[in-house]
Amino acid sequence: MNKETGPLPFDKENIPRHIAFVMDGNGRWAQKRGLPRTAGHSAGSESFHKAAEILAELGVEHMTVYAFSTENWKRPLEEVSAIMGLLEKYLRRSIRELVENNIQLDFWGDLSPLSPKLRKLIDQTDELSKQCTGMQVHVCLNYGGRDEILRAARALAQDCLEGRLSPEDIGEKELEGRMYCHDVPPPDLLVRPGGEMRISNFLLWECAYSEFYFTDTLWPDFGREEIYKAIAEFQKRNRRYGGLSR
Ligand code: FPP
Repeated sequence: MNKETGPLPFDKENIPRHIAFVMDGNGRWAQKRGLPRTAGHSAGSESFHKAAEILAELGVEHMTVYAFSTENWKRPLEEVSAIMGLLEKYLRRSIRELVENNIQLDFWGDLSPLSPKLRKLIDQTDELSKQCTGMQVHVCLNYGGRDEILRAARALAQDCLEGRLSPEDIGEKELEGRMYCHDVPPPDLLVRPGGEMRISNFLLWECAYSEFYFTDTLWPDFGREEIYKAIAEFQKRNRRYGGLSR
């Protein structure tokens, strides 16, 4: 790990427990360099790996990344295949390194349309990750915030139909218990590089009270300095959760 010494621009006792990232700007990063968009995704996967190491080193407990949305299938087949190929390559190459750093990896989303090869690698990753007790990294793959809520609603309906649950007993806990995010604290901070200021169907339920941080920096350039800036900005926020300031 490439740890930096020097004074930190934030209070290391008040690190967000959970940080989520929309890894945006890969395509533009590549185009600016006259490279194919897929080169941007490749640089983006390196950026992801470094960010995971930095967050683990800072003591962040959960990192969630938007790797492929339920809407990303609309992209040209060549780009979709390149992203899936990168994920395969990444898992094959880096999982052992993550395990050595005690980082667990899991996947949120409907994995059924993925190739058998990628699904097998995901299963192997899940298996290897079981021994890790450090930071949890949730990779959102064929994931949509609306789809996550819909699936949970369907599961609740099925449980009611089969007599395991009554509609009047349904609360937030029952819905959330059927979502990918069950047992994971909601993101304290959601970071979107790449200049766009929207949520794009990411973690719609989970982000109810997250702090948002937007920056024009493109994801492949989003390194240690940018992570530090985002955390420093987070620490200036006054989180009231609908209540009043203390
Ligand atoms: C958004 O940038 C990025 C994606 C849709 C893909 C993200 C995928 C990776 C970083 C690769 C693999 C991930 C892991 C976890 C190893 P964009 O293409 O929309 O960029 P643009 O807005 O500049 O076009």
